Amino acid sequence: MSAPVLQLDKVCIRYPGAPADAVRGVSFDLRRGETLGLVGESGSGKSTLAAATMGLLPAGTAVQGAIRFEGRALFSEITDQQLRRLRGRRIGTISQDPFTALNPVMRIGTQLDALLHWTHDRPKKDRMARIETMLERVGLSDPKVRMAQYPHQMSGGILQRISIAAAMLAEPTLLIADEPTTALDATTEAQILGIMAEAKATLDGATLFITHDMSVVERLCDRIAVLYAGELVETGTVREVLDAPQHPYTRALLDCDPARITEPTRRLPTIEGTVPPIHKRPDGCIFAPRCPAAIARCHAEAPERHELGPRRSAACHLASPTPVTP
Ligand SMILES: Nc1ncnc2c1ncn2[C@@H]1O[C@H](COP(=O)(O)OP(=O)(O)OP(=O)(O)O)[C@@H](O)[C@H]1O
Ligand SMILES: [Mg+2]
Repeated sequence: MSAPVLQLDKVCIRYPGAPADAVRGVSFDLRRGETLGLVGESGSGKSTLAAATMGLLPAGTAVQGAIRFEGRALFSEITDQQLRRLRGRRIGTISQDPFTALNPVMRIGTQLDALLHWTHDRPKKDRMARIETMLERVGLSDPKVRMAQYPHQMSGGILQRISIAAAMLAEPTLLIADEPTTALDATTEAQILGIMAEAKATLDGATLFITHDMSVVERLCDRIAVLYAGELVETGTVREVLDAPQHPYTRALLDCDPARITEPTRRLPTIEGTVPPIHKRPDGCIFAPRCPAAIARCHAEAPERHELGPRRSAACHLASPTPVTP
């Protein structure tokens, strides 16, 4: 079997001057054809992991463990210069803010063409036709007009469609989308998610989809990795994890998902307490102070990662193997 598109092995990341690691001991893999939803509250390390994979962490950041792209380790087997070349070609990105993703002083058509020129050496006529088709695919009815415009002439929703088109044009092996709909209104968000779902079906590679919205994970992803305070607390297929969550933090996230609340309520539930700052992690399990199921052992001893099945694990003393449903 070929190497996973992305493989993280006990990854620890410490920002320069930080008192503790922002990410601690995270391992998971992502294979061709899969979309992995990376979820967790604000500050849990999602963007840090994405930045590490793209080689975009600030200078002086310490990364331990291994991040492998198609079997080759970043920082050792793949140099910074090689990684820069992979970005935009083999590793595509869609960020939260499409304004920062696009060049403000270049027409859209020129930017997209520059991207294609890098990746495929085709005649200009073919490249323009390909860009037009891609812009239509992301729901733009007037691609020729858009291609002649500059980013400031468009709304955030249109720009996000264009940045999805930009990421897809290169036919990346790995697509990283970091909360691509957070800055958009609900209707535009729904449209963009529809486009992402279609994009996923046509993409030959793998997608890392960062979100804190469980219903988005359910709609778009095959697998899920739940982060809490920089640690991986649970992973598995979306069905395994959402149908039978084994970590109390995953259960709490699901209980707070507005899409899952069936009883009429005036106040949305929240998880009691706050994520501990990275330098004040509690002894024992990091989630124990907020955990409704915690027992004495949880406050004293950090749980190992319990393997619950193939590529399915939870870091909880109380986790038990997923029941087999007929
Ligand atoms: N450039 C940086 N320098 C120092 N610390 C940072 C930097 N960027 C992030 N951090 C810290 O790393 C931790 C993880 O942050 P990160 O941005 O990865 O979280 P996140 O899960 O993406 O959150 P959000 O949902 O808010 O985007 C936090 O404690 C944050 O303060
Ligand atoms: Mg983030």
